[in-house]
Amino acid sequence: MAKPNDLSVGDMAARAGVPVSTLHYYEAEGLIESWRTPANHRRYDRRELRRVAIIRVAQSVGVPLSEIRQVLNRVPREKAVSKDAWAKAAAPWKDMLDERVALLERLRDQMGYCIGCGCLSLETCPLYNVDDALGQNGAGPRRWIGSRTERA
Ligand code: FES
Repeated sequence: MAKPNDLSVGDMAARAGVPVSTLHYYEAEGLIESWRTPANHRRYDRRELRRVAIIRVAQSVGVPLSEIRQVLNRVPREKAVSKDAWAKAAAPWKDMLDERVALLERLRDQMGYCIGCGCLSLETCPLYNVDDALGQNGAGPRRWIGSRTERA
């Protein structure tokens, strides 16, 4: 149902800080919804702004759209969503985000230590991989990602 505070696509884009094309993409991906005026112009409920904000923040830390969609699909659209409902919908992200935080901390601490050094010291360098022992865990940067497989 149309509400007087619904946003045009231009207003929505300006308010959300994304190009109109991004809104169209999010909509085509089923992440946000709009409705059409009799003149076939898109209108967005203001609640869609929160969804766009969540999408943008999640994308900025590398959460795939498929996982963002899973969370957003758990949030009801037909009413104002409570803080508890958002927390419940996002709860499955906790472990994944904790893992990403730990990875970023390792990257910051270990990589930062070695930038500009280049010694690859056998005793102290956290990057040194004696006899490629970490290759036993698979390809890629195993010191940081461990033995888990990468997400698609
Ligand atoms: S390159 Fe020197 S400590 Fe890693």
